[in-house]
Amino acid sequence: MDVPVLEDLALEQGQRVFVRVDFNVPLRDGVIEDDLRIVSALPTIEYLRDREVTVALASHLGRPKGKVDAKYSMAPVAAHLSAVLGTDVPLAAGVVGPAVEALVAGAAPGSVVMLENLRFEPGEEANDPGFATKLTMGYDAYVNDAFGACHRAHASIVGPPRVLPSAAGRLLAREVEVLGRLLQGADRPFVAVLGGAKVSDKLGVIEALLGKCDTVLVGGAMAFTFFLAQGLSVGDSLVEPDMVDECTRLLATGRVQIPTDVVVAQDITDDADTQVVVSEAMPDGWKGLDVGPATVAAYRAAIGEAATVLWNGPMGVFEVAPFAAGTIGVAEAVAGCAGFTVVGGGDSAAAIRQFGLADKVSHVSTGGGAALELIELGDLPGLDALRGAPNA
Ligand code: 3PG
Ligand code: MG
Repeated sequence: MDVPVLEDLALEQGQRVFVRVDFNVPLRDGVIEDDLRIVSALPTIEYLRDREVTVALASHLGRPKGKVDAKYSMAPVAAHLSAVLGTDVPLAAGVVGPAVEALVAGAAPGSVVMLENLRFEPGEEANDPGFATKLTMGYDAYVNDAFGACHRAHASIVGPPRVLPSAAGRLLAREVEVLGRLLQGADRPFVAVLGGAKVSDKLGVIEALLGKCDTVLVGGAMAFTFFLAQGLSVGDSLVEPDMVDECTRLLATGRVQIPTDVVVAQDITDDADTQVVVSEAMPDGWKGLDVGPATVAAYRAAIGEAATVLWNGPMGVFEVAPFAAGTIGVAEAVAGCAGFTVVGGGDSAAAIRQFGLADKVSHVSTGGGAALELIELGDLPGLDALRGAPNA
């Protein structure tokens, strides 16, 4: 999975580098709720500043669908970056065009400029070649540190490496190294813990992991489709009936474990009336919203004995207190495991940070979909593009 790295770029003082980052951070009322993706890009930004080049950062934020929408402006991100870097990071009024080029060209060596949201431009998601060319104008090199977006064949991910000397930033290189280690030669036992709502979202990844790991522990609402495959009733739980055959096939491997007990309720509220039931006795009219304590104990034991753990996806509706215990239990077990532990991005990364356990795992990925796709397919469009760069 080799890609060119920062040291492979021959940078000279005063040059301008276009850096694709994934600053698609959770925002609430304009306030950044989790800055993991921003702080994770700092080593790359610092490396480039030390070489006295001008750093132009470009990211998408949300899904504004090719139109300018103030709600998705990078302004809060630029302000946050100014604070964490301790230097003013101006926000360009757009992504491409003469005014943006002039701002970047006029910036002092070693300074950092934030471009506006890439997805304000229809050419970004359409991977329009004309837009990709405009993106590269005025730059001497391209760095991709946007691991979380490398599964998107969008203009800013695959376009610039066709023409500019290019490299993976520190964050991207680390993600590729860690996830590569899971795919090739992971120490055994290797236990994968997968949660989330839908089997259909995780099917490819479960199949790929079954070829690499010893056991897959299943939680989250997707467990109930496996219940259906075993002929169990599921009450009002979320299920995907058209995935039952796939679940039957996965269970037949004998290496997929599903919950033996479940926390059920009739509504998802902080004061919901809950019961713990064994998996064979899910009551009509109730929904499964977390794994039960016996399941947590079994999963904890399996995780505790593992030499390698990958965790992706919550075990229940952990944002609501009565349904958080399963996810907390798994997070604690992963944090306590002495082996090589990786938390896939998205909700599980948010959960482990929320529980204050992020520094007790080997790696918290900044990519949700990207991490899953890398595991499933073994490569990503963004990595492939870097390998084709003129300097690679
Ligand atoms: C993410 O948050 O998963 C990445 O930034 C990609 O965003 P997208 O799913 O909107 O392409
Ligand atoms: Mg996403």
